[in-house]
Amino acid sequence: MSTLHLVNAQLVNEGKTFAADVLVRNDRIERIGTGPTPAGTKTIDLAGKHLLPGLIDDQVHCREPGLTHKATLATESLAALCGGVTSFLDMPNTQPPTVDRAALADKRRIAAATCHVNYGFYVGATNTNLEELKQVGPGDACGIKVFMGASTGNMLVDDPKALEGIFAEARLPIATHCEYSPLIWENEQRYRAKYGEDVPIEAHPLIRSVEACYRSSSMAVGLAKRYGARLHVLHLTTARELELFEPGPIERKRITAEVCAHHLWFDQSSYATLGAKIKCNPAIKTAADRDALRRAVVEDRIDVIATDHAPHTLEEKARKYFEAPSGLPLVQHSLLMLLDQHADGLYTLPKIVQKAAHNPALLFGIAERGFIREGYFADLVAVDLEGVTRVDTEQVRYKCGWSPFLGTEFRGSVFLTLLNGVTVYRDGQPVDGPRAARALEFRAA
Ligand code: DOR
Repeated sequence: MSTLHLVNAQLVNEGKTFAADVLVRNDRIERIGTGPTPAGTKTIDLAGKHLLPGLIDDQVHCREPGLTHKATLATESLAALCGGVTSFLDMPNTQPPTVDRAALADKRRIAAATCHVNYGFYVGATNTNLEELKQVGPGDACGIKVFMGASTGNMLVDDPKALEGIFAEARLPIATHCEYSPLIWENEQRYRAKYGEDVPIEAHPLIRSVEACYRSSSMAVGLAKRYGARLHVLHLTTARELELFEPGPIERKRITAEVCAHHLWFDQSSYATLGAKIKCNPAIKTAADRDALRRAVVEDRIDVIATDHAPHTLEEKARKYFEAPSGLPLVQHSLLMLLDQHADGLYTLPKIVQKAAHNPALLFGIAERGFIREGYFADLVAVDLEGVTRVDTEQVRYKCGWSPFLGTEFRGSVFLTLLNGVTVYRDGQPVDGPRAARALEFRAA
């Protein structure tokens, strides 16, 4: 039995920030507030640092199995806990793709042996696997990922009948990547005709256009309304799509939206310095789009902030436009990005916690996590708003070894991460010890 007393914290939880101590016994939060420290308890004085529920990132690509030259569950989860992310939901565009229960079981086996944060997995939809999807329950997967636009991996679901079947019969939340591929292919052809293989990266948001996003996300929302499905539209990037989503608390919604930290941070001017490093799908668009996304977070039109952490090697990223893969590594830096934007007054700390911890837990029915509550698992992160984090190659933990933030100084730092009551990161270093990670449990959301 172990007890840990976190004292002099500023708790950020359920809309409030307030001074409190937190007593952790074994893997759970036992007491919030003042009280005696039981004999033999280890105490950590947080000296006014802010204590948040560990972040739950509902969209990461850890590349296992099959693409382990880019990343592994072990490497990316270690990066995650250094960044205050204590749980993640991993995507199915692996090799082979994760499109049935056998592949999910395989991933769970790898994760149980190697993953450093709590994990869950999506099952991927295809044009032909509806019968299998109907068998996949919350014990197997967190949700069904539907690529309604083609991206990394060949997982496009574009057969209208298959889509109807999925929306009509899904037992789990449906998470969609929305970009209308036929329009993108047309745009690609036009740019290829003009530039050959040397299409400038600045064209990416014009090829993967606002119209392509809107057409696909409006189709997804239409299908969800027709069939009463539980739909979560991933990584919105445009002001235009926002009209498809209602503001308000997530508890009342059947249709929700996610934005990713990089789409809240970069805009098209960033291509000039970062080039294909920030090539991603959907593309980073204009500053006006980014600002509208920020406002939508504040007004609760967007429900979840995640990363779409999608590592590729620098060698792959150095290729010409069509060959450079889309996606960038982010999971270690998402909380820092949000804290930095908090320093600019963009979001309050409770808003960050709501979008990056509470709401993913509510959306996916993640049991007893995502909140600082007595009896819940002790997944916690202490951050220092006065700290500074310099991103250099030594700081970066991703297997791919790079970050779009190399050279950046974020205002704020992660001081401590607790996972299931175990101190897994402290003072800039992961703590050696037995892995504390668990498979997430999903209750019908
Ligand atoms: O940019 C992206 N990269 N978007 C996706 O949808 C997939 C991801 C990846 O797996 O590389």
